Amino acid sequence: MFDLDLVRSRFPGLARPAIFFDSPAGTQIAQTAIDRINEYLIRTNANHGGTFATSRESDALVDEARSAASAFLGASRPEEIVFGPNMTTLTLHISRSLARQFTAGDTIVVTRLDHDANITPWTLIAEDKGLKVEWVDFDVETGKLRLDTLEAALEKRPKLVAVGYASNALGTINPVRQITEMAHAAGAWVYVDAVQYAPHGIIDVSDLDVEFLACSAYKFYGPHIGLLYGKYHLLDEMKAYKVRPASNLPPEKYETGTQSFEGIAGVLGALEHLAWIGKTFNGGGSDTRQTLLRSGMRAVQSHEQALSKSLLSRLKAIPEVIIYGQDDPDDVSQRVPTVAINVKGKHPEQVARALAEQEIFVWSGNYYALAVTERLGVEDSGGMVRIGAAQYNREEEIEVLGAALEQIVKA
Ligand SMILES: Cc1ncc(COP(=O)(O)O)c(C=O)c1O
Repeated sequence: MFDLDLVRSRFPGLARPAIFFDSPAGTQIAQTAIDRINEYLIRTNANHGGTFATSRESDALVDEARSAASAFLGASRPEEIVFGPNMTTLTLHISRSLARQFTAGDTIVVTRLDHDANITPWTLIAEDKGLKVEWVDFDVETGKLRLDTLEAALEKRPKLVAVGYASNALGTINPVRQITEMAHAAGAWVYVDAVQYAPHGIIDVSDLDVEFLACSAYKFYGPHIGLLYGKYHLLDEMKAYKVRPASNLPPEKYETGTQSFEGIAGVLGALEHLAWIGKTFNGGGSDTRQTLLRSGMRAVQSHEQALSKSLLSRLKAIPEVIIYGQDDPDDVSQRVPTVAINVKGKHPEQVARALAEQEIFVWSGNYYALAVTERLGVEDSGGMVRIGAAQYNREEEIEVLGAALEQIVKA
């Protein structure tokens, strides 16, 4: 059984008497990640590639973090994992490298459900190289991608489809495997933004067969570090934007300059936390790291699906609350516990501020999902209030939020 008090005791940030529904913008960090960062800085701090002990130990730790990330994402080898400052920077970096493979007149596909970090890096290279851009739409009622518009885009035989795994605004989980099959049948590569899915479910890039997938550790209980998976042969073939003395081999050829080694150590700590959940609550025993990580994610997912159900039910009980996207409490398997709402007659920022006064932390605005707020027609009225649950949230917190929203409605 998922022992929530035990899980919460692993997050020192939760000592603050507040309700953290801000996790889609960044979760609290797990103690194991903090410990790894501290230990790195105190004992191992050194640059890469030296002959002496601290440098060798630092490199060994980065190798271990890479192996753990490879297990987490289901890669076939650690060299398929590239570390970087964050998902946006990694995507801008890869988009420029990929652009060298495209020629004027080629088509690329982006979606209106995506965070701008998986749109603008592609539209920028389209500008640079004279590429055509096709947009995939989403259904404004259900918040689901319209696969008919993807099919139409694929008729243009694009080179690349950039798609999110889960929406950071509406919480929709996209059918990435199906989308990848469709894209491959049309000869396109697939670049997945898994930033909002990674904290909530198992990712298996080998099963999905995607070419690239990016996520960020600060959304899954780690520090501010981005991770990119790429199929090894592509990372190897592609020409990286890099300086001459740096390695010509993946993954280092994409890891420009000096990395945040302490941050990478923290990624290992975050993954150790998720594996600990697997071992503690799903009887992981002496299983492999990947089995433990997956059983951890299964335990997290079932706790969070219960939270999604309660959150949607509570919000639906308030007639003045508008929920955007999927709102059926009995159908939460295709969403992450991130819900975008508005309160009739109130500006989203006013709602977020009133909640903040009661130490309930939520976001308002567009959270860079600009294409979503524009498509829903809410961009000019302040966007939406976003409530995002994570593995450490309690059912009781949903009730406190619901009561606070009822007060805001009356105010
Ligand atoms: C879906 C999604 N993609 C990309 C990003 C950008 O991630 P990063 O801050 O690591 O660049 C975010 C951040 O909120 C996000 O939610």
